[in-house]
Amino acid sequence: MTGYVLAIDQGTTSSRAIVFDDSFRVIGVGQQEFEQILPRSGWVEHDPEAIWRSVVETVKTALADASLSARDIAGIGITNQRETTLIWDRETGQPIHNAIVWQDRRTADICRRLAEDGAEGMISERTGLVIDPYFAGTKIAWMLDNVAGARAKAEAGKLAFGTVDTFLLWRLTGGRVHATDATNASRTMLFDTQRNEWDDELLRLFRVPRAILPEVRDCAADFGTTDASLFGEGIRICGIAGDQHAATLGNACFRPGMMKSTYGTGCFAVLNTGTERVRSANRLLSTIAYRLNGKTTYALEGSIFIAGAAVQWLRDGLKIVEKASDTGPMATRADEGQDVYLVPAFTGLGAPWWDAEARGAIYGLTRNTGPNEIARAALEAVCFQTADLLSAMRRDWKGASDTVLRVDGGMVASDWTMQRLADILNAPVDRPTVLETTALGAAWLAGHHCGAWPDMGGFSARWRLERRFEPAMGAVERGAKLKGWSQAVRRTLTETV
Ligand code: G3P
Repeated sequence: MTGYVLAIDQGTTSSRAIVFDDSFRVIGVGQQEFEQILPRSGWVEHDPEAIWRSVVETVKTALADASLSARDIAGIGITNQRETTLIWDRETGQPIHNAIVWQDRRTADICRRLAEDGAEGMISERTGLVIDPYFAGTKIAWMLDNVAGARAKAEAGKLAFGTVDTFLLWRLTGGRVHATDATNASRTMLFDTQRNEWDDELLRLFRVPRAILPEVRDCAADFGTTDASLFGEGIRICGIAGDQHAATLGNACFRPGMMKSTYGTGCFAVLNTGTERVRSANRLLSTIAYRLNGKTTYALEGSIFIAGAAVQWLRDGLKIVEKASDTGPMATRADEGQDVYLVPAFTGLGAPWWDAEARGAIYGLTRNTGPNEIARAALEAVCFQTADLLSAMRRDWKGASDTVLRVDGGMVASDWTMQRLADILNAPVDRPTVLETTALGAAWLAGHHCGAWPDMGGFSARWRLERRFEPAMGAVERGAKLKGWSQAVRRTLTETV
């Protein structure tokens, strides 16, 4: 058997396919961006066919880039933007609506009603989640209620629901497999993460017919084989995990107390809590980190909706930077005497605030404020939000006290941002040599399951540090900055929170 493994990383703004060799080196890449459909304020959709096309094409590109063919690949691991919701017709395979993306806020009213009806306790007990439009449950209900005839068809077993992994799996296997993994299931708000099964009471509450749900498997499992017509020959699919869970694996955070934070469109900090399913008292999520050989490992997660997307906004919206990498050097030139705070609540605020109605704001502007100060504020916002998450984690669970943060994602290439992150957290920040940790985690699931790659111990022994950023900021300066941030957030929150 060969040691080549292919990871499909279907993200919020682009699809990527990466071929790794058995030394975990990247030897082939395909990447395609696709359109963000924004029909109204707070609504975000993707065209399922655009996602599908981009995945098929990037797989072909990655194989060609690696000078390999389908027969050389030992297995495929799929990782995906989570919570994004699709429903399709089982007979035709056609989606009944655009995918409703995780960032979409259209179900904020349904969520408010559920909270007013006192459902929060039961939901968080079973799912570990807070009530928010972020998760798939209310998005499914919205589609069934707003697409003509959908509810009746769903009840008759004619429709299938899936997060992006499930949709891709269905298409890749030519409609033969309707399944997901435990991490993606844990983001639907319909899955009891203690009992590891779909929950009938939650299905009733969200009015979701059981007939549309996929089967839930371990993250490393037999998920079928790609249809031979796609890539010339069938390839086994043997791993699936939501992208933040795959990044936790890729960053080898296998022991309780280990934590990773991924800085992509948003920022997602995941703290491994082992077999302990910690109930957060600080509005963090208690989620499934991964499920292997039927054994569930749990995590506390802090989800921030806007991280790299704020830098994208500086580039594409405000047009004050030409490329994302300009922001670090601009931040070094920013006036130290100006306290400018940017609260990037473009699509509401996630953990630990969960304010779906909040919108972004900038504070502390003076006549001297220019692009440099705004760029610094955008980068610092990411650091402050991570600090909010870490402090909530420390209050929730004693195992988080001495955490070293392992980081990955596009933004961590910026030395300035990583140093500021260590300063604001007052904790070391470790940047690995491989920054493709999400894809690597998915590849490890598949590579290990199909017998081509080492087990957890062998994999984590080969995790490599590229650079550690040690905190260097004085306590007084850090305290003043955190205070300024917290005041800015409080002014941005809506009255409902
Ligand atoms: O929960 C949403 C998350 O999975 C999206 O990740 O990397 O596509 O921004 P990303």
